[in-house]
Amino acid sequence: MPTSRDTLDTDIVTLTRFITERGRQTGSTGELTQLLNSICTAIKGIATNVRRAGIMNLYGIAGSTNTTGDEQKKLDVLSNLLFINMIRSSFTTCLMVSEENEHAIEVEVEKQGKYIVTFDPLDGSSNIDCLVSIGTIFGVYKKNSDGPPTEKDALQPGRSMVAAGYALYGSATVIVLATQFSVDMFMLDPMVGEFVLTDRDIKIKKKGKIFSINEGYAKFWHPAVKEYVERKKFPQDGSSPYNARYIGSMVADVHRTLVYGGIFAYPAHSKSPNGKLRLLYEAAPMAFIMEKAGGKATNGRQDILDIVPEQIHQRVPIVLGSPDDVDEYLEIEKKHQDHCKGVTA
Ligand code: F6P
Ligand code: MN
Repeated sequence: MPTSRDTLDTDIVTLTRFITERGRQTGSTGELTQLLNSICTAIKGIATNVRRAGIMNLYGIAGSTNTTGDEQKKLDVLSNLLFINMIRSSFTTCLMVSEENEHAIEVEVEKQGKYIVTFDPLDGSSNIDCLVSIGTIFGVYKKNSDGPPTEKDALQPGRSMVAAGYALYGSATVIVLATQFSVDMFMLDPMVGEFVLTDRDIKIKKKGKIFSINEGYAKFWHPAVKEYVERKKFPQDGSSPYNARYIGSMVADVHRTLVYGGIFAYPAHSKSPNGKLRLLYEAAPMAFIMEKAGGKATNGRQDILDIVPEQIHQRVPIVLGSPDDVDEYLEIEKKHQDHCKGVTA
């Protein structure tokens, strides 16, 4: 239920207060609270840069390419540095994995803490220069081995995450934070400069009315994806066709899916056998949020959260959203997989 708040609220629940109170209730050491606070500060910094990018000449290419060959924007570079520096100086984290860095980043020994953070500092890069919503995604894990941190420590299944979240720089700036307890939403109040709790314990609809996929790849889709989308556009059971919405920024498409219900997919296709989205800092955090909100996230064969990563930048096909919608997709996917088995057997 939305938390009502008017201009006279003198007892605001900020994100900082929310996580501090949670920490107290659960008797935690405060390290996670400190980490999430630092992430929150990095996000405020990114939001500020996003809002004034046109004026500050931050659009365009910074002249380098990232690990996966995408051109890095000036805003990408800034956002990455803000994230790295804020997390490093929080004394809570020993290792970071960023979309923008080829290798995992080890924090100096004297500043190390027990957490590992994976992040996509500025998601939706093709939308930056035209002012369409973009975002930041992050996942938090605990290091569970002894000795100095190595890249291997970050190769944990999403299910072992302790928290995940995203920030959406849309018509307002929002943070959605998932912990083991709940998914909660905070909006940036620019007048106060704080993220304020607006929605507690968010749950996704059981079934939605929107499908979200890049139809430009229809030519390359596998038969299951073709059949599913066809069903949404031309339902045979007398129900209404679904609406199509695709922004092209994962954070924005997932946020709409969380708030309105429905399904978002970036599946594998013949030109992109593993899809496009990255497991550690895109798919897994979003899957964690979805599951905590009562939704589902799958690669078509297993839950995204059960996949054990082999490489820090590995890609994964993903279908997520309302549980009934994802189940319907899985039913079709299974039918095609069984058919293939029958053909090859
Ligand atoms: O980070 C990759 C990304 O920008 C996502 O935010 C988005 O969902 C996807 O790429 C869009 O890719 P495409 O243009 O291939 O649909
Ligand atoms: Mn991204």
